[in-house]
Amino acid sequence: MSKAIISPSVLASDLSKLSDECQRMIDNGCDWLHMDVMDGNFVPNITMGAPILSCVQKNVPDIFMDCHMMVADPAKWVPEIAQAGGKSYTFHYEATSDPASVISLIHSHNMRAGLAISPETPSSVITESLGSSVDLLLVMTVRPGRGGQKFMPECLEKVTDLRKRFPGKNIQVDGGVGSGNACQCAKAGSNVLVAGTAIFGAQDPKKTIEEMRTAVND
Ligand code: DX5
Ligand code: ZN
Repeated sequence: MSKAIISPSVLASDLSKLSDECQRMIDNGCDWLHMDVMDGNFVPNITMGAPILSCVQKNVPDIFMDCHMMVADPAKWVPEIAQAGGKSYTFHYEATSDPASVISLIHSHNMRAGLAISPETPSSVITESLGSSVDLLLVMTVRPGRGGQKFMPECLEKVTDLRKRFPGKNIQVDGGVGSGNACQCAKAGSNVLVAGTAIFGAQDPKKTIEEMRTAVND
């Protein structure tokens, strides 16, 4: 199994103190920080973009920004997000007719490339060549667009299928994930767990992060 990576989603943080919130999670032992970029077009909400990420990068130089791009034109933002310090750039399969060229563009900007599928998209769209050209596959376990939704366990079949076909890849789950279902996600084959509400809302985020990590490593 690939290494456990815990990526708290900053959407559930106090966004007015974003840098401090990211540093707090690093101090609590997280691996990555999941930055949800929404453009008000691919999804109805608007969150943050490159200018904000760039400030965070300056204040928290050691951060690994795992950028989840819920945007209608994923190629458009690649240069700006790379410039802002994004380390990983995950875009939605549903947002483009040419995912392979977006993946090449991301790599040419020295970021890791991730490909996300929403709940209604089958895992069969991730062909052998697409799956092997990305660094991460993201299976959404809620409809993209906002935090705090209920986990959809039926999406885990797709994780199992992808793990079988891409044994060495990072496979991420995002939406309604926490210590309660981390084992279920890990058993299906996910090693990168995103959690907003469950981590930022926890009394003891360090404990929650550790519990989630143990679920993957066990
Ligand atoms: C939803 C976002 C998620 C979300 C996760 O569109 O992609 O990253 O913030 O939040 P929770 O863990 O609260 O479901
Ligand atoms: Zn996300």
